[in-house]
Amino acid sequence: MIGKIAVIGGGNIGGVCVSEIASRRLARKAALVDIKEPDFAKGKCLDIAEGNAVIGSDVIMEGSKSYEVIEGADFVINTAGVPRAVRPDGTFPSREELLATNLKITDAVAAGIKQYAPDAFVISVANPLDAIVYRLYLQLKEQIPKTKIMGMAGVLDSARYKYFVAEAAGVSVENVEAVVLGGHGDTMVPIRSACRIYGLPVTKFVSESDLAAIETRTRKAGGEVVGLLGSGSAFVSPAWSALDMLESIAYDKKKITPVCALLDGEYGVDNLFVGVPVVLGKAGIEKIIEIDLTDDEKAALQNSVDAVSKTCAEVDKTAI
Ligand code: LAC
Repeated sequence: MIGKIAVIGGGNIGGVCVSEIASRRLARKAALVDIKEPDFAKGKCLDIAEGNAVIGSDVIMEGSKSYEVIEGADFVINTAGVPRAVRPDGTFPSREELLATNLKITDAVAAGIKQYAPDAFVISVANPLDAIVYRLYLQLKEQIPKTKIMGMAGVLDSARYKYFVAEAAGVSVENVEAVVLGGHGDTMVPIRSACRIYGLPVTKFVSESDLAAIETRTRKAGGEVVGLLGSGSAFVSPAWSALDMLESIAYDKKKITPVCALLDGEYGVDNLFVGVPVVLGKAGIEKIIEIDLTDDEKAALQNSVDAVSKTCAEVDKTAI
C-alpha cells in the first residue's frame, strides 16, 4: 500500500483527487495543501474524514496551509493554479494565458516538494500543462529524476477522443483505443492512424468526415466544458486521469499511457515536456514509445511542439 499521497491545491481537481484517494483506499494517508483561508484544506479533509466512517475507509486525511503536511509523500499531485474561467463577455482565456500567475504558484509548490517530499513521484495537472511541468522539473531536477516527474494531459485528451469515437460508432468506450499526442493546448494531435475499435481501423465504423469533426472537438474539449460550466474548468475527468497514472506506477502495471514527459531526442524533440506514449511502472516513466505517424500527423505534432516550445521560452525568461 502507498504510504502517503499529497495533493497540492484543494480546488475542484484537488478535491476530487482526495475524495477518490479515500474512496479507492489508495494510500494510508492523504495530505492536502491549500493556502486558502480560513483553513480550507483542513475543512476539505475533515469533510472527507467524516465521510470515511460512512464508506468504511481508514485513509488518514490531513489538510493544511503549510507544506509540512506533505512530508515523506510517495506521490505529489500538483493541481495548484488558477483554472480557465469564462469572462464576462463570454470568451475564455487559453491555457497559455494562465502562465504568469501559475508560474509564481508553481515555484512555491516546487519549494515545498524540495523541502518535504524530494523522493516523490510528481504528477502535475496545473495549466498551461506542458510549461508548468517544465518549470517544476527545472526547479526539482537536482532532487527528482526525469522518470519521476510528469504531466497529466494525454490520458484526459485521449479519453475525450475515445468517448466521442465510441459515441459516434455506437459501441462501448472499452472497445476504443485512441491516443492524443503533443502539447495540452489547441494544437494537440489526435492520432487517427492509431485509433482502433475492437482492434480494427476506426474508419470501418466512423466516416472520415465525422472523424475530422471529432478530432476538432477533442482539441477544443477542455474549452467546451469551460464554456458550459460558466465557472472553472473540467475537474472530475482530469482528477481520474491523474489517478490512472498514479495507479499504473503504484501497482507497477506497466500500462502504456500518454504522458507529458521530458524528451531527449525522441520524436526529434530535445529538452521539452511533450505528450507521448510511455510505459508507466514502479520506476515511473520506464520507456518512451515512439509510434509511426503519417506525414500529416508528423507535421501536426511538430506544430504542437512549436507551440509548447514558445510557452517554455516564456518560462525560461522568468528567473528562477
Ligand atoms: C482541461 C483542463 C483541465 O483540459 O486542462 O479540461
